[in-house]
Amino acid sequence: MDVLLLNGPNLNLLGSREPDYYGTQTLDDITSNLTKIANNVGLTFEHHQDNSESKLIKYIHNATDNGVQYIIFNPAAFTHTSIALRDAILAVGIEFSEVHLSNIYKREIFRKQSYFSDIAKGIISGFGPQGYEFALQAAIQHIQQLKRL
Ligand code: DQA
Repeated sequence: MDVLLLNGPNLNLLGSREPDYYGTQTLDDITSNLTKIANNVGLTFEHHQDNSESKLIKYIHNATDNGVQYIIFNPAAFTHTSIALRDAILAVGIEFSEVHLSNIYKREIFRKQSYFSDIAKGIISGFGPQGYEFALQAAIQHIQQLKRL
């Protein structure tokens, strides 16, 4: 598995959840588009959404055994709370991008604190579903570079 996309709590409700912040595309719309983009350049793509911190930790732990080269991660509300997820991603040492549909710096003060931004390769926040595409482009470049080495 080349690229792993992980989405945290409440992102299963995309499409109907607070559309002013998160847009009208469903998670299925987003992931089927990303799968096509990854497959078109010959990369494999897997995605999981979960509302539970422990399941997300498990996906991160399994990533090494599954040969994941890059993680695209929207930890959702766990962004602002989860040292456990931060530690999990540090433990596996896989490069990742932090993605948010909304601009977390333009919202409530508590959303400005992220447990991931200082350890991510980069952060994309505020571009809606397109943000995942930007992150995937970065992942593709990263993996292609690794394959050339
Ligand atoms: C989010 C922003 C978080 O603050 C929020 O808790 C989410 C979604 C985003 O994609 O904009 O659930 O990560």
